[in-house]
Amino acid sequence: MKRFAFLRFALAAALVFGFHSFSLAGGASGRSVAPGKYDAGQAAEICAAGGRERDAAEFVFVQITDTQIGFTDKTEHFHDTDSLMRDAILAINAIHPVAVFNTGDLVNKFGNQEQKDIYTRNLSEMDSDIPYWVVPGNHDIRGFNQKNYDGYMAFVGYDRFSVRYNDCAFIGIDSNRIKDDNEYAAAAEEEQFEWLLAELKAAKKCRYTFVFMHCPVAMTSLDEADGHNSFPMAKRERYISAFKKYGVDAIFSGHSHCYSYFEDGGIQHINSMPVTHAFNGAYPSINIVTVGPDGFTFKYVAGAEVIAGE
Ligand SMILES: [Fe+2]
Repeated sequence: MKRFAFLRFALAAALVFGFHSFSLAGGASGRSVAPGKYDAGQAAEICAAGGRERDAAEFVFVQITDTQIGFTDKTEHFHDTDSLMRDAILAINAIHPVAVFNTGDLVNKFGNQEQKDIYTRNLSEMDSDIPYWVVPGNHDIRGFNQKNYDGYMAFVGYDRFSVRYNDCAFIGIDSNRIKDDNEYAAAAEEEQFEWLLAELKAAKKCRYTFVFMHCPVAMTSLDEADGHNSFPMAKRERYISAFKKYGVDAIFSGHSHCYSYFEDGGIQHINSMPVTHAFNGAYPSINIVTVGPDGFTFKYVAGAEVIAGE
């Protein structure tokens, strides 16, 4: 009952928590879609939906983050976080976006099979024609080493993605190897960085380039002090300069369990609220991103009821 009371409050108080938009000159290019690359051999083009809205001037994708089944959840069989993820899936089905991107922390304890089973069961309720991509969070690869990486790969099957839809690029990377400080992580980071540069370069002429990662580069400013919710200062310049060079438009992240936003040098840093338990006045919610001919907007909604009302 407590959770429903909270959700009602969330709905009444702040259906739309954040809303930002911007424009790019010549946004509607009509260019043909660049071929994508994807290591796991899946379709690089997001076309699993059978071409639905393929050429639409406006389309919607959804970012979710920190489904994190079991996080701060003392209920039997993780009922609370289970229900919150289910709410998100119902909302997604109601919207039926062209794709869903989960920026990580799929479950709280990766070694807990029940949490993974709950995540998988909820995910199986998502309409099967909605393409779904994830990047790992720090709870999914808890300490970047061979064993934990292999465990993640055994469950998910890939650790990054680069896909296209309607002349837009969607590139996801693992932030754990950027954050963690050990030899194994450093080598993995180098390998991924080379891959990232190639993917960014290939996407340079796309209408928009969206990057997805679990940990934000920073929460409110690139100058902010190192912390749990940011890249180490020494790493920021490397990634930001690459993102700027190749015209990245927005970075979508999670990890903080609250909401933060800033823009720097033409890149929007969108740090999203979680699907499950939230901090600092944030709400369990999903991020609905609408891409149009002259820009893109995003907004957060909590619970399937909101979507039904739109
Ligand atoms: Fe996290």
